[in-house]
Amino acid sequence: MFVMALYNLKGGVGKTASCVNLAHLAASDGYRSLLWDLDPQGAASYYYKTHTRAKSGVKKLLEKEVSLDELIQLTDYEYLDVIPADKSSRKLDILLDEHKGSKKQIRQMLKQAQGNYDFIFIDCPPGFSVLADNIFEAADAVLMPTIPTTLSLRTYEIVKEYFEDKKLPLEKLMCFFTMVDSRKSLHAEVMETLYQDQRFFGTYIPYLSEVEKMGIYQAPVTAFAPSGRAAQSYAELWTEIKEGVLY
Ligand SMILES: Nc1ncnc2c1ncn2[C@@H]1O[C@H](COP(=O)(O)OP(=O)(O)O)[C@@H](O)[C@H]1O
Ligand SMILES: [Mg+2]
Repeated sequence: MFVMALYNLKGGVGKTASCVNLAHLAASDGYRSLLWDLDPQGAASYYYKTHTRAKSGVKKLLEKEVSLDELIQLTDYEYLDVIPADKSSRKLDILLDEHKGSKKQIRQMLKQAQGNYDFIFIDCPPGFSVLADNIFEAADAVLMPTIPTTLSLRTYEIVKEYFEDKKLPLEKLMCFFTMVDSRKSLHAEVMETLYQDQRFFGTYIPYLSEVEKMGIYQAPVTAFAPSGRAAQSYAELWTEIKEGVLY
């Protein structure tokens, strides 16, 4: 079982879109995949048309009143399950903080999925928090979508420093560019700078309006427009990630 967290300190950078498409691609490859929506906004759950049945599911999971299995929902796609966001995930940070060994709770919870899945994809909320610490502990790879702007250079440095301060292995931090506008010279300059650090995958996701249509179709772009440029870019990225983490 390999755990990938789609994370960035910033919001609106393509974490959810990437998480939804990468999970779909993994499942299409025949890998048993689970997407865990830990962002209380629940966008990934929405794209997969899933709703939580259990009230306060994550809270009860943390308090060992329900098992992980009980929160898992099937999707329209073979090999792909989802744990939808629920209202209790809004308070997850506070709840986690109250627990002993508060940084290892998510990792503990995921042990219940061991053997049932090949890949776990976690859609994370932005920010540093006890939840983020938990996710960094639980993840084998922290995938960070990054829009190549000047501000992103700073964000990237801050996240790296955070990893160093918390003594987290920097090898876990793997980044890729999203919403790239090839007409903008600034995008190209930022990409060139960040590629030097060798924490970025070569494949990037361009800015494409197809991605925004995921909200209309309530489906991954890799499912409703598989031959389009967006799906092709995600497929190429998935191949690179898979090779990067599995071999
Ligand atoms: N490659 C892309 N091209 C165009 N729009 C995108 C792309 N990736 C994401 N978006 C759009 O940008 C917005 C933010 O993306 P989202 O994945 O929700 O970010 P995050 O999860 O980091 O907050 C959404 O409206 C989404 O549809
Ligand atoms: Mg999101």
